[in-house]
Amino acid sequence: MSKVLYIKANAKPEGKSRTFKVSDNFVEKYKKAHPEDEITTLNLYKENIDFLPMGELDLILRPDMGRDRNHPILKYTYQFLEADKIIIAAPFWNLGFPAILKAYLDYITINGITFKYTEEGPVGLCSGKKAIHFVARGGNYSTEPYSSFEMGDRYLRTLLGFMGIQDFTTIAAEGLDVVGNDENAIVNDAIQRAEALVDKF
Ligand SMILES: Cc1cc2nc3c(=O)[nH]c(=O)nc-3n(C[C@H](O)[C@H](O)[C@H](O)COP(=O)(O)O)c2cc1C
Repeated sequence: MSKVLYIKANAKPEGKSRTFKVSDNFVEKYKKAHPEDEITTLNLYKENIDFLPMGELDLILRPDMGRDRNHPILKYTYQFLEADKIIIAAPFWNLGFPAILKAYLDYITINGITFKYTEEGPVGLCSGKKAIHFVARGGNYSTEPYSSFEMGDRYLRTLLGFMGIQDFTTIAAEGLDVVGNDENAIVNDAIQRAEALVDKF
């Protein structure tokens, strides 16, 4: 039995979000293929997530401080730590992803829980997990000339790698807002590519 954490980060609801069309379909198919797994959906827009306040910085920086699993920030950190598989659905916004996802990442990137500092430098404490990122993009950013403008997937991949997660897959539906492109065909292609991963994720 695996614990799966499905993190959704879009102001647009299901049915309107093309990111969610692909990710929700993947999760539905995943549930059928892995009925024994426990899947928790975390819709960040429905959570009480905010920018890190000054008063909480010590909590994040200092592992020697007492750590309460029910703390309003740390409950997210432990939830992330305890998941075996991470699914992130976040659209491409302003060359990155919605700010609420960055706020969430600040909640889970905690010294002494998801990574630690050693004499050799930082070490991730989340090794062994798998992650998949679903993203819909208006333009095309996976190839030149704009691939270096892409900082959403790259940031997620790098930060999760920092926490020790090396198994990171991306499913992008892109070029959706390019005039003349067939939006449905692009989304369906991403759905197919995602479905091909259901069994092995
Ligand atoms: C606030 C905002 C910022 C966006 N920024 C970009 C961008 O920088 N580059 C791009 O190609 N598309 C951009 N888009 C378009 C979205 O990536 C595109 O519409 C995508 O389908 C959104 O995913 P969704 O359908 O799941 O909401 C932006 C859309 C919004 C709402």
